[in-house]
Amino acid sequence: MELSYYNSLLLLFVVFITCYKLFTKRFKNLPPSPPPLPLIGNLHHLKPPALSQKYGPIFSFRFGSQLSMVISSASLAEECFTKNDIVLANRFRSPKTKHLTYNNTVVITSPYGDHWLNLCRICFLEILSTQRLNSFMGIRRDETARLIRSLSQGLGEGFTRVEVRLKLMSDGKS
Ligand SMILES: *[C@@H]1O[C@H](CO)[C@@H](O)[C@H](O)[C@H]1NC(C)=O
Repeated sequence: MELSYYNSLLLLFVVFITCYKLFTKRFKNLPPSPPPLPLIGNLHHLKPPALSQKYGPIFSFRFGSQLSMVISSASLAEECFTKNDIVLANRFRSPKTKHLTYNNTVVITSPYGDHWLNLCRICFLEILSTQRLNSFMGIRRDETARLIRSLSQGLGEGFTRVEVRLKLMSDGKS
């Protein structure tokens, strides 16, 4: 009984250390960061203005195990979208997105490259081109008129508060 208690304590300790090592894995060239905790990362530090005063306009932050960068300067943000845009063009990937998006091959999770450019080309030609948009114009006009009609239903003379979000999410039957 006593022995098994100590064994489980030891096991717990080993699991804790392994998690800590895993979640606080060191990367090179990271901006400064508040010290993360295992599993929750820096979630207990969530007070951005105070952190940027302490660590500067760029610092790393762990949302759980997910490493992120926080940038709070216009010139650094501009650099991210101009000089380093290709490096930062890739989207967040995880085992979850891998299973949900066919091994990250759909346009929202695919890494920047030939495949992604091809997908974008297809989207612009087949979904967002003027010809396609015009061909669905009737449906959009009809849906907009239906929404306006449903919003104005039951309105009297004065103003009434309506929640548009629910209307936008509904299938139009209610
Ligand atoms: C998933 O994608 C990776 C990287 O693009 C590739 O190396 C791997 O072979 C792919 N897996 C499958 C099952 O297609």
